Amino acid sequence: MKIALGVTGCIAAYKAAELLRLLQQRHLEVQVVMTRHAGEFVAPLTFAALSGRKVITEMFERTGEASSNIESAIEHIAVAQSIDLLLVAPATANTIGKFARGMADDFLSTLYLATRAPVVVAPAMNCEMWDHPAVQENIASLRARGVRIVEPDEGYLACGMIGQGRLAANETILNAVAEALRLKNGLAGVQVLVTAGPTVEDIDPVRFISNRSSGKMGYALAEEAVRRGAEVTLISGPTTLQPPQGARWVSVRSAAEMSAAVHKHLPEAGVVVKAAAVADVRPSKRASSKIKKSQLPASLDLELTEDILASLGKKKGKTLLVGFAAESGIHLQAARQKLLSKNLDLLVVNDISEKGAGFDVDTNHVQVIRADGAIRDIPPMSKAQVAEKIFDEIVEMIQKTSSRHEPALMTK
Ligand code: CTP
Repeated sequence: MKIALGVTGCIAAYKAAELLRLLQQRHLEVQVVMTRHAGEFVAPLTFAALSGRKVITEMFERTGEASSNIESAIEHIAVAQSIDLLLVAPATANTIGKFARGMADDFLSTLYLATRAPVVVAPAMNCEMWDHPAVQENIASLRARGVRIVEPDEGYLACGMIGQGRLAANETILNAVAEALRLKNGLAGVQVLVTAGPTVEDIDPVRFISNRSSGKMGYALAEEAVRRGAEVTLISGPTTLQPPQGARWVSVRSAAEMSAAVHKHLPEAGVVVKAAAVADVRPSKRASSKIKKSQLPASLDLELTEDILASLGKKKGKTLLVGFAAESGIHLQAARQKLLSKNLDLLVVNDISEKGAGFDVDTNHVQVIRADGAIRDIPPMSKAQVAEKIFDEIVEMIQKTSSRHEPALMTK
């Protein structure tokens, strides 16, 4: 997710550098926008180095060429459409006044008017200024328009006075950002169950049948669901990945263990995403001690594991069910048949024979098929970005059918 961090001209501008780092740690892409006065306190280069991207300071680049001025203005306005949230920290009385009155005389105030993303404003100023009726009136009108105001803290101010005016603590600002994103991203209060990784079917205590799944796609999906405010349970086969922060993590080994865990959590789940590569077969018998080489059979007796996805399809009720299909070459007709036969709402198909898709890699190229027949191609991109696109689809489906899904989705 991408946010714009507006920095305005006050002594607390330096605090925005730490805030930027903390936002990045939460996997947010940050575009810094500075007012001209902010540049008097902290050099744009500081934010450019930390964010790894150019800081926007002016509405028009000062190249002197009319065509490049127009290009930069258009490029800048594109920021308004691409962001998920605008955060202004610290916000001066001047910027707050401009936002409240709809003035647009620099890039930040123009961005505020041009974006439809949620806005969070963290003011910082002298306490007399904060208390002034003009400022309070502007704050009230921003609040009335849905802008989230992170009230300044009380304490010693740079001007030597004591009162309310210090920029709120980073944690308070981050909480306001998280809350605004949660509401925007549509999964607040929804329980999402994700399965990931391979399953391992033991032959004896040292030998097993498994597959090449790394779990990366499923973990990326769980992280994306957490970012969107869902309550996430990740049921994972053995992988080398760190359990994602903010998700309940359930570790399983075999298909039978995964099935038991999934069925246990199904009743509360509003959405189930079955990204795990469940082993289709297991040895008919598991030896309790290591089989001697001389006693190894020439062939193994195998039996099918339960098709967990298919059994979920039979009892899913109002739960939105998402399956995955790893195919060698995509045959959309067959994929659609799979979606219908397993009673899925959405099927994510990937061609594992394609370079840069499927197992072991950090990227993926998938096609998403809905039960109503709609097909969307998600071009090759990182698994984190693919997860974002898949959840865009899921949220859209939830919103379209909210009355149908409401009871299950709202279950805590
Ligand atoms: N799956 C499952 N239980 C199994 C096997 C697969 O729940 N025992 C789920 C996976 O989590 C995934 C989907 O089914 O969501 C993957 O199915 P796929 O690999 O396409 O296998 P099949 O449905 O068995 O189809 P095919 O005959 O094409 O292998």
